[in-house]
Amino acid sequence: MPYDNLILELKGGMGIIRINRPKALNALNAATCDELLAAARDLADNPDVRVVIVTGQGDKAFVAGADIQEMQPMNPMQGMAFSNKGHMAMSFLERMNKPVIAAVNGYALGGGFELALACDIIYAAEKAKVGFPEVTLGILPGFGGTQRTARLAGIARAKELIFSGKVISAREAYEMGLVNKVVPDGQLMEAVEGLAAAILSAGPVGVGLAKACINRSVSMDIDSGLDFEAEAFGLCFGTVDQKEGMTAFLEKRKPTYRGQ
Ligand code: CAA
Repeated sequence: MPYDNLILELKGGMGIIRINRPKALNALNAATCDELLAAARDLADNPDVRVVIVTGQGDKAFVAGADIQEMQPMNPMQGMAFSNKGHMAMSFLERMNKPVIAAVNGYALGGGFELALACDIIYAAEKAKVGFPEVTLGILPGFGGTQRTARLAGIARAKELIFSGKVISAREAYEMGLVNKVVPDGQLMEAVEGLAAAILSAGPVGVGLAKACINRSVSMDIDSGLDFEAEAFGLCFGTVDQKEGMTAFLEKRKPTYRGQ
């Protein structure tokens, strides 16, 4: 499917989504949210893709938020529908059974930071700036920010960041536990692709099930979570990849995984 607002690249097991609206610093309008969901579905269905990377085209912005021009005239029902549209794309990335890495190459504000927070892992360039300016616009984060920030950084930090609308550096976000790694400018994609390479050498079924287990850990009591983990663990033993991985270890060779 051709995309107007993003660029989709396939590269050695990686599916790279680049949000591409240069005139609006890659802001997410409704059409871009629809395309993001469609691209994520494409990558989920493509057996050659084992890791997804989300980034912004250009060197200034990852995504500078939801599109303020498009939101300005909305009424309450349209606002709710827009929020739900963003949730659909971001929750799909969060739940798809392949790891998703955000490569935050510049401004990740409002809906842009919310997009990054829906990804499994965030690497950010040193120059990147993140935050939730929504309250300065008379609204609140509507693409998952009130929910995911508190889960990742704790309620007090989420409230401070969201109530103040403060834009912070990548390093401050790292110190709050909202970013996995801060990378020198110019080396971001190299670092992200290095991480992707490590994931690509692992068994995709185990990685996908581990993602599902870790995601459940925040919404399940510990006993239910451990039961879920035991079932996922058991499921691996019915896969070709488990036999290959363990046989390769015993034969002192590298495994070749098929994702089956
Ligand atoms: N929506 C629409 N257009 C945007 C935009 C956005 N979120 N962010 C930037 N743009 C546009 C600007 O209007 C400008 O367009 P023109 O050239 O036509 O005037 C262009 O992108 C370049 O932006 P600036 O001239 O402002 O660039 P700058 O370098 O001076 O500032 C910035 C960069 C600090 C990121 C600034 O653009 C900015 O503050 N953007 C808005 C950030 C924001 O408030 N994001 C939250 C949006 S609300 C939200 O996301 C709701 C939600 O949770 C779902």
